[in-house]
Amino acid sequence: MRPLIYPLLLCFVLSTLPVLSQDRQEELQLLRDSVNYDESMVPDYQLPALLGKTNDARLMNANHWMTERRPELMRMMQNEMYGLFPDEDIKVSFIINSDQPALNGIARRKEVTISVSNGSESRDVSMLIYIPSQIHGPAPLFVGLNFYGNHTIHADPGISIHQSWVRNNEEFNIRGNLATEESRGVRYYRWPVEEIMEEGFALATIYYGDIDPDFDDNFENGIHGLLDDDVNRSELSSLSAWAWMLGQTINYFQQDPSIDENKVAVIGHSRLGKAALWAGAMDQRFALIVSNDSGCGGAAISRRQYGETVHIINLAFPHWFSDHFNEYNKRVNQLPFDQHSLLACMAPRPLYVGSASEDQWADPKGEFTAAKEASLVYSLFDKKGLEGIDMPGVNSPVGDGSIRYHMREGKHNITSYDWEQYLAFARKHFQSR
Ligand code: GCU
Repeated sequence: MRPLIYPLLLCFVLSTLPVLSQDRQEELQLLRDSVNYDESMVPDYQLPALLGKTNDARLMNANHWMTERRPELMRMMQNEMYGLFPDEDIKVSFIINSDQPALNGIARRKEVTISVSNGSESRDVSMLIYIPSQIHGPAPLFVGLNFYGNHTIHADPGISIHQSWVRNNEEFNIRGNLATEESRGVRYYRWPVEEIMEEGFALATIYYGDIDPDFDDNFENGIHGLLDDDVNRSELSSLSAWAWMLGQTINYFQQDPSIDENKVAVIGHSRLGKAALWAGAMDQRFALIVSNDSGCGGAAISRRQYGETVHIINLAFPHWFSDHFNEYNKRVNQLPFDQHSLLACMAPRPLYVGSASEDQWADPKGEFTAAKEASLVYSLFDKKGLEGIDMPGVNSPVGDGSIRYHMREGKHNITSYDWEQYLAFARKHFQSR
């Protein structure tokens, strides 16, 4: 019997879908109906060698990886999958709108407008930052995007409400694609702000729809609207725009004396976990990277074709990746890399991959496998990964070196259990630096 979770999951997935053409919907439905959740049906596959022609770590050193192989992989991932956000003619400036005590004095709340301009037009993106009051001197920080608006992460009445397009959600009282007071704090369970402050970390977040609303409009709205008409639309992607903005936040942190710009961890859940990983790969100033339930196009090995597949994700979310990624819909084994390559690009920085046991759509085993495979590149830096470790059971984190992994018991979500692990991991690695 199929566990009840799969039909529920399907409903969730359908409710998050943008409007697709009839043909596309039908094709997608057929693929969804035949999604594989059976480990014995995972096809035989061979992962592309991380180090190039061979995987012999004796033939490569860290310097060679950093100067030759890594750039080569990054180019391939950009060209074939993630696309880019071309920022040559784009200027970014920061305006601190408010800076006040908040959360009963345990933090300061700052709101910073990130103004993105092409010289004649601009788009404003709002970043919310909490800085723990107990920290004297620059604080380490977690930065991540959120799904419904900064004001949804906490009931704090001082958080501004965005004006951008937002996905309707009855449960969160969001109608007419507009955020209102009624959705304040609805996502607090994903953002344990008080605990993060108690642990001595600052937290910054941005509503992802402020950057690029999450639907396919051929890159007209959001910051894509600032690009020249002659920019090749087929190379753009929402994931690259979201990840690009995450990188911009570090430019702000470098100017803010209350934040330690050398201890910035990037975090994301689900599609925003994919964005966090791509941001961590593109911008090596991120000192630590956390992906939570990022799944297909995130931490999970595509070649396993378990749960969501490349074909399904490209049909359902055509704007997330570059158009070129479609070329692999039916020949995923031809990809010149797999998601272990993306994780390897985090090396030697600490990397935490989190999965959830009832989130089979995101393929926990595929996420673990990619993290374990990436260990080879960490070894070039004399960093310990997940060598010799098997996929753990639920709630049993593994890896006491630079890569850590857990499969939380439960559904697709980011919970206080997940955050506890990520905070402890960051504390350990940031303290030892
Ligand atoms: C869908 C999608 C996933 C994605 C998830 C999310 O389920 O298929 O790839 O991670 O939405 O972002 O919530």
